[in-house]
Amino acid sequence: MKDYKNLLSPIKIGALTLRNRIESAPSNTGNGTFEGFFTPESVGYFELKAKGGAAIVTIGESNVHTKTGVAHGRMPCLDNPDILPSLIRTTDAIHRHGAFASIQLIHPGRRANKDYYSGTVYGPSAGEPLFAGPIVEMDEEVIEEVVDAFGDAAEMAKLGGCDMVMIHGAHGWLLHQFLSPLNNKRTDRFGGILENRARISLMVIDNIRKKCGFDFPIEFRLSGSEYVEGGLTIDDMVEFAKMIDGKVDIIHVSSCTFHNPATNTHMFPSAFHQKGINVPLAEAIKKAVKTPVAVVGGINDPDLMEDIISNGKADIVALGRPLLADPYLPKKLREKKIDDISPCLRCLVCLSGDFVPYIKYPIRSLKCSVNPIIGREQEAMTPRKTEKKKRVLVIGGGPAGMQAAITASDRGHEVILCEKSNSLGGTIKVIENISFKSDLKKFKDVLIKRVNERPIKVMLNTCVTKEIIEYLAPDTVVAAIGAEPIVPNIPGIDSKNVIMATEIGKRNDDIGEKVIVIGGGLMGCEEALNLAQKGKKVTVIEMRPDVVIDGAYLYREALLIQMAKWPIKIVTNTKCKAINDKGVIVLDKDGNEVQYGGDTIIVATGLRSKSYEVDSLRDYSIEFYNIGDSLKPRKVLDAVRSGYDIGTTI
Ligand SMILES: Cc1cc2nc3c(=O)[nH]c(=O)nc-3n(C[C@H](O)[C@H](O)[C@H](O)COP(=O)(O)O)c2cc1C
Repeated sequence: MKDYKNLLSPIKIGALTLRNRIESAPSNTGNGTFEGFFTPESVGYFELKAKGGAAIVTIGESNVHTKTGVAHGRMPCLDNPDILPSLIRTTDAIHRHGAFASIQLIHPGRRANKDYYSGTVYGPSAGEPLFAGPIVEMDEEVIEEVVDAFGDAAEMAKLGGCDMVMIHGAHGWLLHQFLSPLNNKRTDRFGGILENRARISLMVIDNIRKKCGFDFPIEFRLSGSEYVEGGLTIDDMVEFAKMIDGKVDIIHVSSCTFHNPATNTHMFPSAFHQKGINVPLAEAIKKAVKTPVAVVGGINDPDLMEDIISNGKADIVALGRPLLADPYLPKKLREKKIDDISPCLRCLVCLSGDFVPYIKYPIRSLKCSVNPIIGREQEAMTPRKTEKKKRVLVIGGGPAGMQAAITASDRGHEVILCEKSNSLGGTIKVIENISFKSDLKKFKDVLIKRVNERPIKVMLNTCVTKEIIEYLAPDTVVAAIGAEPIVPNIPGIDSKNVIMATEIGKRNDDIGEKVIVIGGGLMGCEEALNLAQKGKKVTVIEMRPDVVIDGAYLYREALLIQMAKWPIKIVTNTKCKAINDKGVIVLDKDGNEVQYGGDTIIVATGLRSKSYEVDSLRDYSIEFYNIGDSLKPRKVLDAVRSGYDIGTTI
């Protein structure tokens, strides 16, 4: 087993010695107060990351100058001294577990949103409104004011107990806007050549140094490439990195820009992107500078983390979503519990709420598919052993059932877990052969391992009946028996060329070259992509006007981008009328009958809970709960969360 010795080795950053090379990437919870103060919930969020062993915990975007721009609601505002009591509570909570506290300083520039402040929207150059009000070019006086505000905000952060700050110079916020030729059209000393476009960033660094001193480390987050035609490239950013080399303590490499939303799913890399997607950018920058380099983006595999550090590609790995999936990742590496780390699925559920353009108040529903405590870390950090030990029978070994069994067992209950088939895993077993779902398979294995290492009695090949419940005599029964496919009433649905999406894994050899998928929801489209990647020609038939409408917003975007790269034809507003040996007959959007040719028809028209089976088990114990897909078919997130919730409730 790897010892991850490079990853877990200390590093000196200015006056600080980091306990390992793992930094918790900047993030916020969205559950601060309206004034931008930290709440007990948000304190719990940051504390958990420190408790899990990260060396630096970075509080996310915090505003430096409300007068000239605010990006989001409930954002920490470092220009308001009233933030101090709650900031001090947050940094104390981080320090309590041996981590350093950092905070990210941001000015939104042209991306300021007038829903959250009243003032002018400024950018490096004038432009059309993005949210409200025209974008006004910053004159030198405003530039000086903003530079000063960055320094003041850093001073406030220091006063609030932060050990360092991170300047946000990436992702299309103000400093990045100045750097980028996409946004900066100026002709004065802040525009034109790179030295001029970089000037404001250097002024900000100097101002912070002047106010906070040399023993207060500064990290600078930059986008190593914008990946937009006419935008910043890695060559530009290597030159920029040389300009800040030695002036900051960490150069932190991310990528992309909100200026072009098409890059969003690369900025927050999805399951379709290569892991560690920004590592080549960081490597190029590291070769050109002496300052330690951190890299972020889809680094969800400890072996990759160790490879990055041991091969000198970067000095620090910054983890965003992987520490939501498992905040204890650093600690588990040290304890050699690698198989117990919940992998980030890069499913983008955590972030999607922020990006939905058609709701007025985007909600950061901070939840994680594999970690049921995210969004309620504070309550989950308090152990709640049961006062009354019960015998708990969990029926169904899918994610909901396994999580319920694990949580109930941890609370001190006696748990029996019965599974009808010959292995645990439930619906996750269906996706085992899908390459872009490999982390979900890993998560299934983690759950199985957790079940097996607890005193949980597992009974496989056991279809629970009234007699079995009576024999086992549990105090509590938890039904987690899952869902079954909805079989649409279409003539020909019983033909041998028809396969239910949930059965694909078992019938791979029966799938022909031309495939028609009936149902363009998440499941149908993921299967379509999977089959196309295996060389099939696929047509997706969807009766609604669009596909994947049940997917998380950013994941949907990422999936559609992938689908467009493969031979997949998407047909919407089209209803399947019959299946024959040539394929399917549909009614198109104008009501015309059209024959689509296909050797195999995959049916992905949704799932329904096995409520009749649940009902047949209800009456044989005093306490009975129905959870997961057998309550309502939803996503892994809901299954895991409902399992955890019932485990904490019993
Ligand atoms: C819930 C959440 C909040 C985030 N908030 C911020 C933020 O405040 N500032 C920032 O620069 N990046 C923010 N990010 C982006 C991360 O810092 C990171 O760049 C991104 O998630 C990619 O890294 P990952 O693959 O390790 O998650 C956030 C990410 C998540 C998941």
